[in-house]
Amino acid sequence: MSNSLTISQASSTKDILSLLSMLNSVYRPTAAPHQGMALEFPHLFAQGNAKNLYYAAIDGQVVSMIGVYPQVLAIEGIELPVASIGCVATLPSFEKRGIATKILNQVFDDLTKQDFPLALISGERGLYRRLDAVPVGSMYEVTFTADDLRPVIHDLKGIAASDVEEIGAPQRSQWASALAPIYWRQPNRFRRTVQHMATLLESLWFARSGYDQRLFVLSDCNQVTGYVVAYRSLHSSSPVTITEWGGNSLTVLASLPQILDAFGSNAILVNFHSQDQVLAFLITSHGVKMATTPLQGTVRVLSLKSLLARTHPLIEERYGRRGLYLSQDQTQMWTGVNPLGDAISLSQADIPGYLFNVPPHGLGLPFPWTHDLNYI
Ligand SMILES: CC(C)(COP(=O)(O)OP(=O)(O)OC[C@H]1O[C@@H](n2cnc3c(N)ncnc32)[C@H](O)[C@@H]1OP(=O)(O)O)[C@@H](O)C(=O)NCCC(=O)NCCS
Repeated sequence: MSNSLTISQASSTKDILSLLSMLNSVYRPTAAPHQGMALEFPHLFAQGNAKNLYYAAIDGQVVSMIGVYPQVLAIEGIELPVASIGCVATLPSFEKRGIATKILNQVFDDLTKQDFPLALISGERGLYRRLDAVPVGSMYEVTFTADDLRPVIHDLKGIAASDVEEIGAPQRSQWASALAPIYWRQPNRFRRTVQHMATLLESLWFARSGYDQRLFVLSDCNQVTGYVVAYRSLHSSSPVTITEWGGNSLTVLASLPQILDAFGSNAILVNFHSQDQVLAFLITSHGVKMATTPLQGTVRVLSLKSLLARTHPLIEERYGRRGLYLSQDQTQMWTGVNPLGDAISLSQADIPGYLFNVPPHGLGLPFPWTHDLNYI
């Protein structure tokens, strides 16, 4: 590798545009710098977030980048700051020289110094796994055909129903003030302002060419009760995929036939929370298969001290005022006693899985979905 490789953080609009030019060449080859990824991820590429855009240059040429966007998770009322990591790319002629690894190590060091508990990485590849990122949590994933839905919806008659209205492009962001409060009522989510939500309703797959993403608002007696954001690839026969929904899960389920109709499609993929037992029973009682999958991407511990301090109240609440107490031994393992009184020994990398995976593999603390509109 050339000795002139430097790792820097962006500062100016000019820096951001040159990163976008490289990034688009990898992910959106036909897009100009101010289009493509800039429109899909506007918060990440905002001038105020410039210092969180890390890049490697060789002889002044940008060859690789990693985007970081600080966010805050709200898990049953506690706040957990996280660094979302995405838009990871290296120019093809510079791949496999350890450049992305080098930037990522720098990112992790800087974020650990800033006391961030966790990084949320939008990817699962070896690059991240080698640096101790692990999958966490679980959710139900169901792909319904129109035929699957018919008997399920029949059972919901009189229990959950709503009017479903599709909101087109010019009005979409104006719905943020009505929809954000529905999002805020989810027990596990990102902190999101109305302004964030307005921007998100114009970005991601809404802004991605080749994808048709739409917003549906659910209401009952003119009262907004929920919403669904779903997309379809225009170039494949993949099912319609729900990116995010808010409101009651049974009401959302009842709206799916109309959403399928709107897309003119025959299959729709949706995720439900793994603690949603009523819904799980309803679906499986009709013979529809539900997979249990980890949340999208991987997570990596940054500041363990901060992670354990922030999650302590949640553990105490769930385990009758008993917490998780760990200290590091000579072999670098974290050993101690779990809230049930059992001795445990974990590597640092395994701790997020232990906190957020369901028993008996973990303590079953809830974790927000990482594939929703806050995805980067
Ligand atoms: C993914 C990408 C960013 C990697 O960039 P890179 O600079 O080539 O990354 P590195 O050289 O540090 O690592 C490349 C691979 O070698 C592996 N590697 C690096 N150093 C290693 C070492 N010392 N020993 C063993 N493996 C090593 C990494 O784990 C990584 O494995 P992976 O391909 O399974 O993820 C680049 O290939 C790319 O831009 N791809 C297209 C866009 C993309 O897919 N981005 C990621 C989205 S999640």
